[in-house]
Amino acid sequence: MFSRKSRVGRNDPCPCGSGKKYKQCCLRNKKTPDVKHTPDYYLRRHQVILKTPEQVEGIRRAGVLVVDLLDRVEQMIRPGLVTDEINAFVDEYTRSHGAISAPLNYRGYPKSVCVSVNEVICHGIPGEWALKDGDIVNVDVTPILNGYYADGNKTFFVGTPNADARKIVSVARESLRLGMSVVKPGSTVGDIGWAIQQYAEGQGCSVVREYVGHGVGLKFHERPDIPHYGHPGRGLELVPGMTFTIEPMVNLGRHSLYVLDDDWTAVTEDGSLSAQFEQTLVVTDAGYESLTPYDLEKSM
Ligand code: MF3
Ligand code: CO
Ligand code: CO
Repeated sequence: MFSRKSRVGRNDPCPCGSGKKYKQCCLRNKKTPDVKHTPDYYLRRHQVILKTPEQVEGIRRAGVLVVDLLDRVEQMIRPGLVTDEINAFVDEYTRSHGAISAPLNYRGYPKSVCVSVNEVICHGIPGEWALKDGDIVNVDVTPILNGYYADGNKTFFVGTPNADARKIVSVARESLRLGMSVVKPGSTVGDIGWAIQQYAEGQGCSVVREYVGHGVGLKFHERPDIPHYGHPGRGLELVPGMTFTIEPMVNLGRHSLYVLDDDWTAVTEDGSLSAQFEQTLVVTDAGYESLTPYDLEKSM
């Protein structure tokens, strides 16, 4: 990787990214500097922005607002609630906390939150539609606080759920929990997808392919993509400082979808129910920390 031109001098910063001088670090320890795990390498080679502790703190603070928003929306949910009322609340609450709703005007998206009911997989646009007893509804929020993005969503029951609704919401929640559980340095993006796909398909459900988790933090959608399907050991290796979402969309029937004429609303092709949960994570030395930490252990 080092050309003659970029040869490291004894007094240069060590290429391993320790911050020490080369002569006091890998040169002294007779180690080949581990360049493939440095922020510089991840950026140049993979366009992945590894975050500093200060940046992680910024995302964590935006994440507090994500959890707060989702908690408060949950309290609003009832039959008869019009989905535009969720939008009005999220928009106003986000502003009043000094943040901006990332979805509003993002690539032409017209609202401040995504609200996806029943067979809507994601990117449902709030409107005149009223929730009714037995519906499931996903609410996805992404506030930008002091320039930092945190992204999270949850699927809620409206009134009393039937067995299908309970099943798909339970499988989607557990899919996120299992995907998160493999996150640690040395794991790969493929390990996350595999954990989710194995479980969800084992439950007779299917995993959406067209939408994936994503790097997040300084922008809404950063590298890398985090598919919710895949093969163990494949894909990018996780390293401390990576921040990304895991957000499996799981269908009760088949995984195929179509997008409505509004160019946003994604719907299951077979009309089956779809559910989703999303959190924003940072990879740590020990494993991971959720920056949108809501409870995923739910007794059904
Ligand atoms: N929040 C969604 C995600 O998890 C993205 C929504 S894009 C929007 O990635 F424009 F619809 F808001
Ligand atoms: Co997301
Ligand atoms: Co989201």
